[in-house]
Formats: sequence, structure tokens, C-alpha cells
Amino acid sequence: MRMNYLILSEKKMYSTAIKMMLDDLKKNNKIYEIFSDLKADLFNSKANIVVIGPNSLQNPYEICQEITRSFPLTAVLLLLNSEDIDYKKGMYSGAVDVLDIESDEQEVIDSLKKAETVVTLKIDADIDEDEKNNAKIITVCSTKGGVGKTTLSVNMAVAFNKHNLKVVVIDLDLQFGDAALLFDQQPTHTIYDWVKRSYENGDKSYQSFVTKDKFGIDILAAPALPEFAELITGEHITYLLEKMKKDYDVIIVDTPAAFVETSLVALESSDVILLIASLDLPTLKNGKLAIETLNLLGLKEKIYVILNRDSEMAGMTRSLVEEVLEMKIFGRIPSDYHTVISSINKGEPFVDMATRTPIAKAVMKISDQLLQEGQEEVEVNRKAKKKNKLFFFQRNKK
Ligand SMILES: Nc1ncnc2c1ncn2[C@@H]1O[C@H](COP(=O)(O)OP(=O)(O)OP(=O)(O)O)[C@@H](O)[C@H]1O
Ligand SMILES: [Mg+2]
Repeated sequence: MRMNYLILSEKKMYSTAIKMMLDDLKKNNKIYEIFSDLKADLFNSKANIVVIGPNSLQNPYEICQEITRSFPLTAVLLLLNSEDIDYKKGMYSGAVDVLDIESDEQEVIDSLKKAETVVTLKIDADIDEDEKNNAKIITVCSTKGGVGKTTLSVNMAVAFNKHNLKVVVIDLDLQFGDAALLFDQQPTHTIYDWVKRSYENGDKSYQSFVTKDKFGIDILAAPALPEFAELITGEHITYLLEKMKKDYDVIIVDTPAAFVETSLVALESSDVILLIASLDLPTLKNGKLAIETLNLLGLKEKIYVILNRDSEMAGMTRSLVEEVLEMKIFGRIPSDYHTVISSINKGEPFVDMATRTPIAKAVMKISDQLLQEGQEEVEVNRKAKKKNKLFFFQRNKK
């Protein structure tokens, strides 16, 4: 990593001496006489080491403190006249070292090496932090009711959880959502309580409004009464998703059978949109309309079509579905009335309760494929040295 050395001193004889030493060491460097100029340049690059030399007009400890607070990835080395040396102040201001300007050169070089190591470690940690805190948002949608959105959301959550990923399900079917019920949970708090009791009073933390299921999956349940839905807006969802991205590996958003403001916000923030289709004409027609709408919103790239209740008995072929939707089917889930109903009645998602059934295997496969795509994307981004990647699927469970 190429480091930039920024030398600060209004006394030329000191700054040039430091510059010459850095030139000898082939270190990229620049002299600044006043702090405001140096500060402006700190915004421009990341790997910075500031060397503050003797100053009479500027307090080196105060400057050091401001730099370490405002630019936490930067290391600061103080090279001062002996009468100005105060190790305690140096420590409080966050300096890597405080040295006498008359120290021998090797001592200064050792401190510079230490500063480089500190900056490298901080930058690495910062990148890891970025990678870690970037959950993948998967929104399950269809503009037709009863096609299997909630069934897929809940079972996919269990599938990801089996991979040791930290999962939250947000029930954005704000009027009639029943995702918590499928986990056999009766939530004492819902998204409504979060908005009313936390978001609106400025605290905004959501953690105590989340319901935990027995597997360790978190659920932010839909309001207890349909009329409470009105209070929840797109602004709330934007905030919630931003916060949750830092705390989870996967966020699964279940939506109602219509594109309302809250679900549109989720769709826009999503990495993956799972659009449920099935082998019947009304669902197909609605699917086509949904794709057109998502296309207008610039979201078509994110759509993955899932064919639910796939069956040879239906009077429609898969290729017709692909032809009408003008999209490939990404995953198929067979029709299995018995497994689905007993799973609902027991409040146990079938991916856990009936692992060997084809329906459970199908949901596992879809989740695995999404996982794989995520990992490939991470690799591509890594190679491209891109920092802000879309997908993240490292094992991050706390
Ligand atoms: N693959 C399947 N095989 C058999 N039954 C299924 C399948 N998928 C879903 N179902 C059943 O279909 C019904 C509707 O499913 P679900 O509630 O998941 O749909 P939804 O899209 O969330 O509906 P809504 O729009 O009302 O929220 C449920 O009774 C569910 O058990
Ligand atoms: Mg539903």
C-alpha cells in the first residue's frame, strides 16, 4: 500500500529536514505550513501518515487529536523540540509516537514503520468491517395474492439459517401479514410498535421489537391490526433496512400482493427480487405486469423468477411461462399440499420439519444458488478491488 506522508510545520528548516529524510526513504511526501491545507488533503486519500514537526503557532497535540478523531485511519507522529514533549498528551491525542526532533534517524525510521503498520491494519480492519456489514436484501413479491410469497420467505429464512447466516424476516404485508405465525410465534411487539415507540421518539433502535424464533431467526412482525399499517411509511423502511444491513447477513422481506410505497422502497433497496410465478393464467398475467413495472423502475436486473406449485398436471408448460414473462425461471418449487399444510399447522417451516421432501429440497436449492451467486459476486468484486459490493455472503453469525 502506497503511503502518503504529510509534513506539518510552519518552520521551513524542520519541514525540509523531515522531507529530505522521507525522500531518501523514497516515501511520497508533501509539506504543509498550515493545518487547514493539510486537512483538505486528508480527504483525498486514505493511506496517510501525518508528521507534525516543531511549531510555534499551532498546538501539535490539539491538531493530532483533531486528525485522529476526524480521520481514524490516519496515523500521526509528533517530532517536537524536547521542551514541548509531553508523552501523556501525546497518548491522549492518539499519536503513534512522540519523538524528540533531535533523535537519531534510525529511531525516527522505526517510528515511521510503526505508523505504516498501524495505518495498514486500520485500513484492513475498515475493509473487513465494510464487507461484514452489508447484508443481502432479498424481497419476495408478486402482484397476485396467495401464490406462496410467505411460504417461500419463511422457509428460505430457515434454509439460510442452516448455513449459519444471521437472518431477519421483515413482514411488510402490513395489513394481513402472518409470517410470525408460520414460525409458531405470537409477537408481543411489531413493526408498528417500533415506529410508534422507538422511531417517532427519536431513539429509532429496532432490536427490542424483533421476535426471535426457536432457530435464532429474527422476525419483525406485521402490525396486530390492519389499520395500524397506515402509520408505516417508506421512510421508516429505508431507515430500518440501512440499520439492519449492519446487523444481519440476510434480510428477507415478505410483501403484500401489491406494489405499495413500503414494498417499493424494499424492492429498490434489494439485491435480489424473487418474483413468484405459477402455472395459471391470472398469476402469469400479473407476473408480466409486475415485471413491466419493475422494469420501469430500473429493477428488472434484480428479478429472479421462482415457479411455485410446479406440476406436470397443470395445463401450462414452463416454457410458456418463460416465453410470456420473457425471463428464465431461476428456481422451481413443487406443489405439495400435505407437507405445506402440516408445516403450517405445526408452526414449523418444512425446510426444517420435512427436510427430505422435494419441496424442502427445492427451497434449499434456491437458497444455495443465491448463496453461490453471492459468493461469486464477492470474488469478482474482490478481484476488481471494488469496495462497495452488492452481495455479501460470508459466515457472519454472531
Ligand atoms: N408449493 C406449494 N404447494 C402447496 N401449497 C402451497 C405451496 N406454496 C404455497 N402453498 C399454499 O398456498 C397458500 C398461500 O401461500 P402463501 O400464504 O405463502 O402465499 P402469499 O403469496 O404469501 O399470499 P398473500 O398474498 O395472501 O400474502 C397457503 O395455504 C400455502 O400453504
Ligand atoms: Mg403472504
